[in-house]
Amino acid sequence: MKTVNVSICTGTTCYLMGGAHLLTFNDMLDPVTAQYVNLTGSHCLGLCAHEKNGKAPFARVNDRVVSDATLNKLLRAVREEIGMEVE
Ligand code: FES
Repeated sequence: MKTVNVSICTGTTCYLMGGAHLLTFNDMLDPVTAQYVNLTGSHCLGLCAHEKNGKAPFARVNDRVVSDATLNKLLRAVREEIGMEVE
């Protein structure tokens, strides 16, 4: 089974920009999707230092950077990584 690594930045900038609630991501997953996801929190991912990366909060879904991250954006990225249909 393919594992999708989701790393949520818990650094100060991302936290202040609303990233803390992203750690509840597992709560919104259906059981089928949840079995693929490995969710972790991470110190500053180093993405907030460069404007070209977009806006905090940041997360990584495997090698993919998710900027201005929301729960729905993470879900979409995870489903794309798994190869599930995205609405
Ligand atoms: S605090 Fe999140 S990328 Fe730096």
